Amino acid sequence: MFKKLALSAVAALALSTGGALAAGGESHIHDVDFSFEGPFGAFDQNQLQRGLQVYTEVCAACHGLQYVPLRTLGDEGGPHFSDAEVRAYSSNFSVFDADLDDDRDAIPTDHFPGSALENAPDLSLMAKKRAGFHGPYGSGMNQLFKGMGGPEYIYSILTGYTGEEKEENGTVFYENTAFPGGWIAMAPPLYEDQLEYNDGHSNSEHHVAEDVSAFLMWTAEPKMMARKQTGFIGVLMLAILASLLYLTNKRLWAPHKPKKD
Ligand code: HEC
Repeated sequence: MFKKLALSAVAALALSTGGALAAGGESHIHDVDFSFEGPFGAFDQNQLQRGLQVYTEVCAACHGLQYVPLRTLGDEGGPHFSDAEVRAYSSNFSVFDADLDDDRDAIPTDHFPGSALENAPDLSLMAKKRAGFHGPYGSGMNQLFKGMGGPEYIYSILTGYTGEEKEENGTVFYENTAFPGGWIAMAPPLYEDQLEYNDGHSNSEHHVAEDVSAFLMWTAEPKMMARKQTGFIGVLMLAILASLLYLTNKRLWAPHKPKKD
């Protein structure tokens, strides 16, 4: 039985490895130590706030976050802005209101706008969409052992430009060491000292890339902290239950077991 299982596992691994190899070109994903990694990791509120700033000032020119309700910017465990701040931020956007048959300022119950540029994908869930299959030959090992996933992928895309570009059928492609295939249609969005953080944090290109990647992990999984906490309590309860069952079992069978000398 075990032999059979082991054999099929090896076969599956060989197949997936072959597939990844056939797809060609291993992309390079850089490992980043994010605050939310590990069983007790948590989002860094200040980092999420800076990430929102980067998203708003840079990425939102092309990308959207249409699945993210603006009110969640006030959530605890997330960017945790005050009600007034969320309201003020929301009013920067305008949405079409069918009741008024006109545009009006967005309010916290509205969502972020969708992508402004047709070929720029929505980023709400990007950090989860691109989470898997990093590692040698797309085996997913890096995610399992190093916790590398979507935010590392986004960070690596943002910092993986080589400076080379080419034009094909009227579209300019930029060489990128993280993007599968090596050429991406997104111009390098970040450069040194592009924006000013008001909390005094370093605004080097790498820090900015880290901050916006962390923010996009939050948009993709805003309840990560709650999930980890529930998981931890679950494991704790199971451990207590298991030890109680063990003791009950011992007690029940005690009269039927021969006494040891
Ligand atoms: C000038 C417009 C523009 C700006 C600004 C821009 N992007 Fe993009 N982005 C694009 C386009 C276009 C694509 C699609 C590229 C492709 O598929 O080749 C893209 C693709 C992506 C992808 C998806 C890669 C994949 O695996 O499909 C991510 C992630 C991304 N952008 C993140 C960002 C972030 C984060 C920012 C802000 C720091 C940003 N982008 C700013 C135009 C833009």
